[in-house]
Amino acid sequence: MTILKASNITKSYGNFKALKDFSLEIESGDIVALLGPNGAGKTTFVKSILGLLQIDSGEIELFGKSSKDVSARDKLVYLPEKFSFYSYFTVIDTLKFYASMYNKENDQVDYNHYLKLLSIEELRDKKLNSLSKGQMQRLGIACTLIGDQDFIILDEPFSGLDPIGIKEVKDICISLKEKNKTLLINSHILAEMERVANRVIILNKGVVERTGTMQEILEEDTLENVFYKIIKGEG
Ligand SMILES: Nc1ncnc2c1ncn2[C@@H]1O[C@H](COP(=O)(O)OP(=O)(O)O)[C@@H](O)[C@H]1O
Ligand SMILES: [Mg+2]
Repeated sequence: MTILKASNITKSYGNFKALKDFSLEIESGDIVALLGPNGAGKTTFVKSILGLLQIDSGEIELFGKSSKDVSARDKLVYLPEKFSFYSYFTVIDTLKFYASMYNKENDQVDYNHYLKLLSIEELRDKKLNSLSKGQMQRLGIACTLIGDQDFIILDEPFSGLDPIGIKEVKDICISLKEKNKTLLINSHILAEMERVANRVIILNKGVVERTGTMQEILEEDTLENVFYKIIKGEG
């Protein structure tokens, strides 16, 4: 099943074109790495899919429906680049709030499972204003997973995490793949993406420079080397 079909997306901020004729199809079970240097247009694309930004031209379909139809977004969830929530909420109350947004009753959700999965059990009753950046990121990922959605969009999920956190999130992504979830991950942490994703899109200055399966890319060179050559214009 096609989960996302984005055709010829163009998006400008004033006179500046952030996305130029961007197209992408994602099939069920794909783990897609959307890679690109800072300012490439990754977040702009994700926000366009979600209807958080108005595109200039192009078409976006989610689960076979136009993205203009709000119900097209029923089965997706998005972790923004910088997760934030009310500072006076505790970790557990934030998780409960997110679960309620997915119409889950408290007795339907194993909160301890999510707290443990992200290694934030000890933060359970802490207020968000006392959490570090990496701890907030862990909570953001827990909130993203709690609805058990089919299509998961993660914008820089490794941002702010320590090496243990990076490994944990990478393992979570691999376990989501085993559950046949579909993931779109924006990142510039290439070594992690090499292990997680099965498809790659390299975006630079709003233009798709390269698409392929991870296997095709790795037959050529490491992901880091392929990325570097393309971005430096040597590819
Ligand atoms: N609200 C905005 N107004 C003007 N320019 C923006 C805005 N948001 C992003 N941009 C510009 O669009 C380009 C792409 O940004 P973004 O999508 O955030 O890139 P990425 O996520 O790949 O780092 C950048 O050059 C950025 O400065
Ligand atoms: Mg971004």
